[in-house]
Amino acid sequence: MTTGKQSGEKEDGLLDPLAVFQDEHRAALEILEGLEKAAAALEEGKAVPESIAIVKEAHAFLTTEVRRHNEDEEQVLFDLLGEEAPCEFFAEEHRTLRKLEAELERALNAGDPKGLVPRIARGIVELLRTHIEREDQVLFPMARSLLGEEGLTVAAMRLRRSREKPR
Ligand SMILES: [Fe+2]
Repeated sequence: MTTGKQSGEKEDGLLDPLAVFQDEHRAALEILEGLEKAAAALEEGKAVPESIAIVKEAHAFLTTEVRRHNEDEEQVLFDLLGEEAPCEFFAEEHRTLRKLEAELERALNAGDPKGLVPRIARGIVELLRTHIEREDQVLFPMARSLLGEEGLTVAAMRLRRSREKPR
């Protein structure tokens, strides 16, 4: 039966917040793949203008889409889980990512395409890939069982409210 529902959508139209976050992880992983390839090209001094353009696009995605995603995870999920899950560890990784983004921006502005830019880009790729894997494999299954159906509905309502706000 086709209902035209999005993945993880419940009968009341609320999206499963963990499914939403996981979809967004997949989009981020694709961006990271491009960023990694651009870093490799820069290290070899190949396709420099194109690779820098890819790094800038990835940086823009990280500081908008991924940042909103991370803030929503913190406000929607971590806040509900509290001390029951190792949320502080994940929030700390969000903060590290923001620092690396700022470093990448400085390196891009300093015009050092062969040295700092690919080095910081690789640091971001490594951090965010591992972070996403841990959230998908460890934190989200834990959250699903700790929150239960009721808690997930609260999280879904919080996420909907956050996403309705103008950006
Ligand atoms: Fe995430």
